Formats: sequence, C-alpha cells, structure tokens
Amino acid sequence: MILKVSVNDDDYVLDISPSRSLAEVLREDIGLTGTKLACGEGFCGSCTVLLNGTPAASCLVPAAATGGRKVETVESLAPDDSDLSDLQQALLIEDAVQCGMCFPGILMTLTALLKENPAPTETAIRSALVANTCRCTGYERIVDAVLALANKEQA
Ligand code: FES
Ligand code: FES
Repeated sequence: MILKVSVNDDDYVLDISPSRSLAEVLREDIGLTGTKLACGEGFCGSCTVLLNGTPAASCLVPAAATGGRKVETVESLAPDDSDLSDLQQALLIEDAVQCGMCFPGILMTLTALLKENPAPTETAIRSALVANTCRCTGYERIVDAVLALANKEQA
C-alpha cells in the first residue's frame, strides 16, 4: 500500500506492507533511528512519538493508520544536532540521562506535557511518565530537570 505521511514536517510517500508498525517504518524506511524499539509490545514507551501532538507507542501503531497525520520523533527536537531543545538542555544540566535507551520516548512524552502544561507539578510529571519505563535513573533527576525548566520559564 502507499502511505502518505508527514514526519517532522517532511512529507513522505512510501510503499509499505500494511502489517508494519510505525516504529519499523520510521527506523527502516525513513532512517529515523532515534525512535527506539525495545519491547515491541507497548510496555516500555521507548518508541514513543507524537501523533498529531499526542504521545503514542509507535510499536503498536500500524504505519498504515498514520496516513495524513503528523508524526513527530525525537529528531524533531534538535534538527541540526547543535541546537538542543530547552527540555534536552535541562536534562543535560541535571545529569538526568544514564544509558539513554528510554530517553527518545521520555523526551517526546515530556515535550507533549510541557506544551500542554508549561508549569507541571511533580505529580503531573510523574503521571505523564507512567507509560515510559526507565530502568536506570529512578526518575528523580528527570523530574528535577522538568521542575527546574518550568521554574525558569515562569521566572
Ligand atoms: S518498544 Fe514500543 S512500548 Fe516498548
Ligand atoms: S536511562 Fe537507561 S533506561 Fe532510562
């Protein structure tokens, strides 16, 4: 089937099998390997992208269902690698990243949260991250980074 989809504001026309997931098509057909495929079953959130602005586990989304929709991946946050988003910078400053496997998904979830609520509480941050599993960090520095960013934005 032919899929027409917008990914990070670029339009793609792809010939794909209807059985493939969005995560597979992003990584294998478009070359956006920032989106990680870990569990492949909707449990870990490492494959989270934004679909029309809403976080979604791209391993569970059939690519065929994304026609005409707007997909945003972690690559959209720093298009030229040198200009990190405020959220990415805040996480770096807080030294919040360990192995990094979960972070493409966490970044997209938190990006959506901060767009909707620029000053989230700790509870709101933790609640937003409920579908994103991080095995390394314990989440403390991630939460601290988002709170610090929110405080900076409000100052
Ligand atoms: S790879 Fe999609 S939720 Fe784990
Ligand atoms: S930093 Fe390793 S899984 Fe989150």
